[in-house]
Amino acid sequence: MERTFVMVKPDGVMRQLTGEIIAGLERKGFKLVAMKMLKMDTALAERHYAEHMGKAFFPGLVEFITSGPVVAMVWEGPNVVKGVRDLMGATNPAEALPGTIRGNLAVTISRNVIHGSDSVESAEREIALYFKPEEILVYDRPADAWLMEK
Ligand code: RTP
Ligand code: MG
Repeated sequence: MERTFVMVKPDGVMRQLTGEIIAGLERKGFKLVAMKMLKMDTALAERHYAEHMGKAFFPGLVEFITSGPVVAMVWEGPNVVKGVRDLMGATNPAEALPGTIRGNLAVTISRNVIHGSDSVESAEREIALYFKPEEILVYDRPADAWLMEK
């Protein structure tokens, strides 16, 4: 089953949007299989966002993402990587459609409340940055039988 890495960013935590964000992914039918709260340090932030090193917004991004607590999660489901990206909406909340998390809950690109992996490969890399394999739980939900065929 496909997995993705999702993070409520410090603005989402401080604005008390964590529950709403988790509820949206639960309602969709995706399965929460790992979760922890942490404060990222600069080294972790630079590894997480390594692809953006050297860009003008990078220092501000690292400063912001390390500024407060984040909620790191692993979600599982069919096509969950694209599914979460679609639910998140565009990177720039000004362009994110109403109904998406960023479209509903954010106004500016540097404070866009949620991170989600952009590919299956990114998801594997990011999950390994935050979680040991044994921290990712395997369990059945009764609702699974109503969400997908065997
Ligand atoms: P994320 O990685 O945080 O889930 O966001 P994303 O894939 O939608 O966007 P990405 O291109 O990976 O950019 C990472 C974060 O950097 C900030 N950013 N600022 N000022 C700018 O032009 C700019 N571009 C990107 C955003 O906060 C974005 O979420
Ligand atoms: Mg990204």
